Amino acid sequence: MIFQSVMKRFSSGFYDVEFYLFIVKNPLLNFNFAPMDNLNPAKLIECASIEEIPSLLHSERRVVVIIDQTVKDLYGKYFPFEQITAEASEKNKSLQMAGEIAARLMDLEADRDTFILVVGGGILTDLGGFVASTYFRGLRCGYVPTTLLAQVDASLGGKNGVNLDGYKNILGVIRQPEFTVICPAFLKSLPLHEVNEGLSELLKTFILFSSDSYKGLVNSLMKARSGASDSMSMIAPYISEAARFKTQLTARDLYETGERKLLNLGHTFAHAIEKECGISHGEAVAAGIVLAAKLSVKLSVTGKTTAEKIENDFRLLGLRTASPVNTMTLADAIKRDKKRSGDIITFILIEKIGKCVTYPLPVNRLEEYLYDLY
Ligand SMILES: NC(=O)c1ccc[n+]([C@@H]2O[C@H](COP(=O)([O-])OP(=O)(O)OC[C@H]3O[C@@H](n4cnc5c(N)ncnc54)[C@H](O)[C@@H]3O)[C@@H](O)[C@H]2O)c1
Repeated sequence: MIFQSVMKRFSSGFYDVEFYLFIVKNPLLNFNFAPMDNLNPAKLIECASIEEIPSLLHSERRVVVIIDQTVKDLYGKYFPFEQITAEASEKNKSLQMAGEIAARLMDLEADRDTFILVVGGGILTDLGGFVASTYFRGLRCGYVPTTLLAQVDASLGGKNGVNLDGYKNILGVIRQPEFTVICPAFLKSLPLHEVNEGLSELLKTFILFSSDSYKGLVNSLMKARSGASDSMSMIAPYISEAARFKTQLTARDLYETGERKLLNLGHTFAHAIEKECGISHGEAVAAGIVLAAKLSVKLSVTGKTTAEKIENDFRLLGLRTASPVNTMTLADAIKRDKKRSGDIITFILIEKIGKCVTYPLPVNRLEEYLYDLY
């Protein structure tokens, strides 16, 4: 009761400062005033070195780290807290593993004042974020993403969840961590194929909102490929910029009713390609973006040079540009896309590099639109 009435007055705005002081200074109110259903965007913290990260938690009474097994082997010593490990695999992104982690939290007697730090790639931030959101109806948490994909995409925007019976992300919630640490130093140990998984999403971000950053990133990556520079230091600023962009965009549209849909650029194609031939998500996204560019030309949303530039850049960067799946199979798979709405499926098309639009298409004309795209 007292909590509810305090919350009511606190949210009225007028009493903010007065009640904040009342809460933090009143020794009779022995609870940590932190929103458990946190929907505010996570604070992005840029860290140049991994060693700096634990100091961010100096004021926490207790921290438990949920960490990827591989990341623990490489960097576990930098996180001097109690640790729960999980192997990163889609099979482990499951209710069973979430239950096992929660059981470990109970063994450790983690209480509502325990802060959960999730350290790892997108599998861990999805899984650990889901546990942190549901254990005791939600503990405060922070993310330390350690893959490129997680730094520019998976750890941002508040979506978490687990797979069910082989279907991806069936159970989950939207709930923001308190902070996300962007530390490109982790990427030095990331295998190249995992870097490429994140690269398509990084390039996608700039195709969506900044032609200058897209050009700058492509140039830096080309130089890095030719051995002329240290790739990580060259792309670090672009990682931060992309992370900021996704954080801001998803804060404006947390539940994907509007502009958040733009982040699906290339993904309608990618999901269909992945389903049909089992190539990795990152590869499918790269091929999907190239197809979206070609569809944009076909529907006169953009000129030929835009699509040719994207395809050429992706090829030079060693990303996949062609779909291994034929048009008819692709159209069939797209019709089963979960984002289909009745007779309409909405594609994200490219007007120019730096500006994309949503474009609804009637499902019954898909074959016609996709014919000849390759
Ligand atoms: N919630 C979202 O908004 C969102 C968005 C995109 C993707 N996702 C999810 O993200 C997951 C994929 O994430 P991912 O690509 O990061 O994969 P991942 O978490 O499986 O990590 C990839 C591999 O890299 C290893 N690894 C992690 N960090 C490392 C490091 N610094 N050095 C060496 N090895 C390291 C992991 O152990 C793993 O083997 C998928 O489950 C996908 O559904 C979620």
